[in-house]
Amino acid sequence: MNNIFKRKISYLFFTILLSASNILYCQTPKLNEKTIRSGDFVAGENEFLLNHKPFIIRAGELHYTRIPRAYWDHRIRMCKAMGMNTICIYLFWNIHEQTQGVFDFTGQNDVAEFVRLIKKNGMYCIVRPGPYVCAEWDMGGLPWWLLKKKDLQVRKLADNYFMDQTKIYLKEVGKQLAPLQIQNGGNIIMVQVENEYGTWGSDSKYMETIRNDIREVGFDKVQLLRCDWSSNFFRYRLDGAVNALNFGAGSNIDDQFRKFKEINPTSPLMCGEYWTGWFDQWGRPHETRDINSFIGSLKDMMDRKISFSLYMAHGGTTFGQWAGANAPAYAPTTSSYDYNAPIDEGGNPTDKFYAIRNLLKNYLQEGEILPEIPQNPEETITIPTINFTQTADLFENLPTEKQSEYIQPMEFFDQGWGSIIYRKQLEACTNKQTLIIKSVHDWATVFINGKAIGKLDRRRAESSVEIPLLITNARLDILVEGMGRVNYGEAIIDRKGITDKVLLNDGKTEVELKNWTIYNLPVDYKFQTKADFKPTPATGPAWYKASFSLARTGYTYLNMSSWGKGMVWVNGYNLGRFWKIGPTQTLCVPGCYLKKGINEIIVFDIDKPATASITGLNHPILDVIGKDDNQLQKTAKSLNLNGLNAAVSGTLPADSGWKTVNLDEMVAGRYFCFEALNAQDANDNSTSVAEFEIIGEDGKAISSINWKVVFVDSEETEKAANGADKLFDIQESIIWQTKIGDKGNHPHQVVIDMGKEVNVKGFRILPRSDKSTKGIVKDYRFFIEKKPFKF
Ligand code: GLA
Repeated sequence: MNNIFKRKISYLFFTILLSASNILYCQTPKLNEKTIRSGDFVAGENEFLLNHKPFIIRAGELHYTRIPRAYWDHRIRMCKAMGMNTICIYLFWNIHEQTQGVFDFTGQNDVAEFVRLIKKNGMYCIVRPGPYVCAEWDMGGLPWWLLKKKDLQVRKLADNYFMDQTKIYLKEVGKQLAPLQIQNGGNIIMVQVENEYGTWGSDSKYMETIRNDIREVGFDKVQLLRCDWSSNFFRYRLDGAVNALNFGAGSNIDDQFRKFKEINPTSPLMCGEYWTGWFDQWGRPHETRDINSFIGSLKDMMDRKISFSLYMAHGGTTFGQWAGANAPAYAPTTSSYDYNAPIDEGGNPTDKFYAIRNLLKNYLQEGEILPEIPQNPEETITIPTINFTQTADLFENLPTEKQSEYIQPMEFFDQGWGSIIYRKQLEACTNKQTLIIKSVHDWATVFINGKAIGKLDRRRAESSVEIPLLITNARLDILVEGMGRVNYGEAIIDRKGITDKVLLNDGKTEVELKNWTIYNLPVDYKFQTKADFKPTPATGPAWYKASFSLARTGYTYLNMSSWGKGMVWVNGYNLGRFWKIGPTQTLCVPGCYLKKGINEIIVFDIDKPATASITGLNHPILDVIGKDDNQLQKTAKSLNLNGLNAAVSGTLPADSGWKTVNLDEMVAGRYFCFEALNAQDANDNSTSVAEFEIIGEDGKAISSINWKVVFVDSEETEKAANGADKLFDIQESIIWQTKIGDKGNHPHQVVIDMGKEVNVKGFRILPRSDKSTKGIVKDYRFFIEKKPFKF
């Protein structure tokens, strides 16, 4: 055989092998890529048009930031196998511009590569660059350094600084992604302007400015998109963008689009985010969404040729410090972003995945073939118990101090995330004293001479600690951990540490404490390694270090249930937050963060562990509520409304959507009680309400940012996260409902303290909007009082 012949044979053999492997995986990236040609995508009359042909978008949302780059391709292929033809992505401004003016689009942040991978897999892409994205992501994607500006306003034209920084960021996005618009030969079919702006404001000019910026930075040809809710999409106008509506699993599709269709009779219909599950919040039960009702509404959309994007197709993990929070009431999100999504945290198909695949195989477009489900590139492994013997006491390992006359949040000390210590000497005092901290963001431990004397939790708006008698001068340390920044609603300006001031009250006088020594405890890995580790057990907040050896790597879930509260770094990767109160008890370690041989693990626990050991499990624990020192809401047994006159009482209609009830005349009050006397179905003894707003004297809803539930006779906080504070969480899909299976009968009552006296014109109430009608209120009474209600 001569050499040329040999080469030819081996070439042939190689080609056969290559196509065989492509058949095996049912993935022919090159072939598929060819299907995406330079072309056009527009929102036409009643339908989307891809290269002039009707196209129904079946998108799945993935976040490149929540999936290690090594698995991007696998997760995209999983979406395709689930029946998707498009991937929808957010961009996260704050991960790309962590230091002002320094942009990073490389490695894990290489979003253009992510979009190209989507294209390689024969799929289209919807890009949602923000600037604000929500997404249970720190500050909704806005960079923390914006907060250094004391009077910062966001998502508003009024703040030139915010608008200018937004433009600078969008320019960088344009450089990365504008070449990938479908009209330029790429696969980006739509770019979204902002995110759910209708839940925030009504300034069309602001939205037009962001739209124009997006156009100017290079997205000059692509179809633009906006997304809102059925209850608020009409709050502003935005020409040149097609409008999608977002709603949750099991929604009534006809109801969702009714009003929209009236106003936009020829617009193609799309659900911009069809929530497959929901995110978890610390201290509240794990969120799940029933497969059948989820699939039912998805089928309804398919039967009506409505495009959709599944939020999330795969949630993954919010590593490091990036998980955000909701408010009111302040509720930080867990690091696991499993989301009860069809593809689980480790990238595996769940029952929901198979149900979606089974449904969508009946709705494929002509010529489309559903590929086989790709193999997960990683196995799951267990790790035998790692015992921590090396510790470093926090107070013995403090960084260089700073001095500050006034208490200030960490942003003013140039710190983005982590914890901060405020220290000062207290003088001896033979009186009982109370320390009042305004306001703790988000979790504080108060120490006198290094001994913990109290803890304050922002979730419960706690603000005072009793100081023991001080026989001699004593050292006061307030250690404050910042958890996720609020990513939704007006509380988004959320500085960390102590945001106002600290007062000392001795029963007679109250003084503001000044002249503080500050220690910044950032979250970067380097800082965690600086401590001097010793082979002695720790007693208070401390770092713990250990190593463990692996023969093979794979996904594992570190069981943190015996630890207090803090963060974990494995081989330098910040895995995220743990907190004994759950519901997440594990931290996900992707296989690519591990190595064969020796691995390093550092835990920073600002509380303390019951046992300083960790085992790697082959499954996550997402649904175990641990011991909390207090319940979220402590309420009295029964409410006494005797002798009080209702400000208004009446009957609510049974239809969906917001209902407004006006009082005969304006009433001033601080506390209100809403009492459900029965439900629309006479045999239903439960109550449910999605949202409740108080209308102030200007006819607008007053801010609920400082509202507190004072009393509720029944709330579901165990089987589901449906506590009474969901009444004012400004999330319409999340409801308050009385305990599932509760035998208690009507009336059901909730009392709320609005924090200050306001003039009340009336209220607005929104019933649940899923297909269930359980608990929807019929007859009601509404009380408003200046003084607290009696129990
Ligand atoms: C909204 C937002 C998303 C996300 C979901 C809840 O729809 O647009 O970013 O926050 O809620 O997961």
